[in-house]
Amino acid sequence: MMTPISYERAFEAFLDCTDEKDALCQWLLECLEVRQAQSLLDIGPGTGALSIPLSRAVKRYRAVEPIASYAMQLQAQGLEVLQQAFPANLNEFFDVVLASHVINLSDTDVNLFIKAAWRLVTPAGALIIITHQGIEPDWLALTRTLKQDNLPYHQAVFARLVQLLNERGVVASQQITTNITSQTLEQMLAALAFVWSDGDRQRWQIFERHYEAIQALLEENYFRQGRFFFPFVHTFLTVTNE
Ligand SMILES: C[S@@+](CC[C@H](N)C(=O)[O-])C[C@H]1O[C@@H](n2cnc3c(N)ncnc32)[C@H](O)[C@@H]1O
Repeated sequence: MMTPISYERAFEAFLDCTDEKDALCQWLLECLEVRQAQSLLDIGPGTGALSIPLSRAVKRYRAVEPIASYAMQLQAQGLEVLQQAFPANLNEFFDVVLASHVINLSDTDVNLFIKAAWRLVTPAGALIIITHQGIEPDWLALTRTLKQDNLPYHQAVFARLVQLLNERGVVASQQITTNITSQTLEQMLAALAFVWSDGDRQRWQIFERHYEAIQALLEENYFRQGRFFFPFVHTFLTVTNE
């Protein structure tokens, strides 16, 4: 069995092994520059791998983060972080409202989340949602190994998300691929467990139960030149009034 580790610890393993933060950060910094954004609301900053560089690119930065340790960590670095789950009552508008890998909610909650986030965007601003569609071939190989073929659910939530965004404004979609790379199987498993479970205890247990099958999948298909790798496709959904 996989040694039990906490969500925060697995998040750290993921951060150590992924090139995702650099890739997302670069895309977002370019976006802020092109849009000449002065203000940013960062919903769900996590440990702040994106937040610190993004906060430096704007005059006004605020974040909303429910996990106390993350919120305090960012506050200690001088960032203004409201410690609660979004939707939150904020009496100001932002040129960019960002939710990067935050949305994984029930259908009703997604609706409330999008409504509240869009309400905080300035007329010439943008709401940016970064998510996985759940239909990417490598992700499907993993979910099938876990005997959790939740493709219909993912497709439905993603379609609903796009529909909700289309009801607000004009939606542009873009994709980038990043990789988790690790020298040890343990680190790869922790990183994948983090992504797969998304903080959900039950999902975490499912992952642990299929440890050997995942190991076989990784060794057969995701091991090259002495390293494990696993690709992820990110979808960027940008909503504007234009
Ligand atoms: C996977 S991390 C993403 C961190 C960062 N945005 C990134 O892309 O690197 C998800 C973060 O969103 C936070 N989160 C989850 N639901 C949230 C909500 N309703 N409002 C604000 N933050 C939320 C979690 O606590 C966690 O820190």
